[in-house]
Amino acid sequence: MAETIVKARDISKYFKVGHRQLKAVDGVSFDIERGTTLGVVGESGSGKSTLARVVLDLIPATSGSVEFMGKDFFKLSKNERRLLRREMQIVFQNPFLSLFPHMSVSANIAEPFIVNRKELGRLSKAELDERVADLMDLVGVPREHANVYPHELSGGQQQRVGIARALALNPKFVVCDEPVSSLDVSIQAQILNLLQDLQDQKELSYMFIAHNLAVVEHISTHVAVMYLGKVVEYAPTQELYRHPLHPYTQVLMDSVPKLSEGGTEFSGIEGEIPSPLDPPKGCRFCTRCTHCTKRCTEEEPVYKEVEPGHFTACHLYD
Ligand SMILES: Nc1ncnc2c1ncn2[C@@H]1O[C@H](COP(=O)(O)OP(=O)(O)OP(=O)(O)O)[C@@H](O)[C@H]1O
Ligand SMILES: [Mg+2]
Repeated sequence: MAETIVKARDISKYFKVGHRQLKAVDGVSFDIERGTTLGVVGESGSGKSTLARVVLDLIPATSGSVEFMGKDFFKLSKNERRLLRREMQIVFQNPFLSLFPHMSVSANIAEPFIVNRKELGRLSKAELDERVADLMDLVGVPREHANVYPHELSGGQQQRVGIARALALNPKFVVCDEPVSSLDVSIQAQILNLLQDLQDQKELSYMFIAHNLAVVEHISTHVAVMYLGKVVEYAPTQELYRHPLHPYTQVLMDSVPKLSEGGTEFSGIEGEIPSPLDPPKGCRFCTRCTHCTKRCTEEEPVYKEVEPGHFTACHLYD
């Protein structure tokens, strides 16, 4: 039986902005099985990173629960939570900003072992060097780069170091928050392949965030499409690409340049995304939807299973 690594239920995260409430994430649920990837896509501001930060316990949820490896994460003691948090890591969009600029490549990769030496036991210099060298081999950073500084590396190599550091303590779950968005197109595929190989080798579970549906397609087992804090569609990857149900997913798909055509930028879709401080009444997508009816402007569609395993929130399928 598949093992569920992450079980998120009804996650909400509201920020107070002045006297108003910004619903960055509003009632999101999903499961991630061991060795699989949940792709999360949506335009800027749809709440992808906030969702990831809540799941990783980097910021507190307003409501909802996360079960991680069978444990109700938010109900654990501080210490249990800290230990479990080692099993979850994050790879960021900008590898340079995620590394310590004044530390060499090897020191950056060694850092998780040093920070956690109390629980892991202190490693000798030789043991530490060996762990670092193994990690460099694993992610394809030449060993002669051990003593250089992050700014001396290319973006792709920096991201490999970021991945090595994320994997240092053998996590079960890794959030990849737009890990290739800042890289040259030619490098993007290499990093995606690396992430995929590492997943296969180590049975990692990923939450993979991107604007670009083309990037997510190859790596994801399932895809969740977010719009203004909500998941509007969720399905197994092939099903979603063959048969997108929600009008937002459909325009998102049409507006995506394919990686193979040399596209890097998400070209955007018609109309401005409304302010999350003042989302439209009814369906949040109604201001940009070509199928919008009066009902859509008044009544919020229920998120439901329209076909086996394929969920969406749209009145077209009521
Ligand atoms: N600390 C905060 N305080 C107030 N608002 C915030 C905070 N963090 C995020 N937000 C708001 O929450 C919403 C969702 O932001 P988030 O960064 O999660 O979106 P995203 O989908 O990751 O976007 P991007 O693709 O640009 O990274 C945005 O409107 C953002 O301005
Ligand atoms: Mg983000």
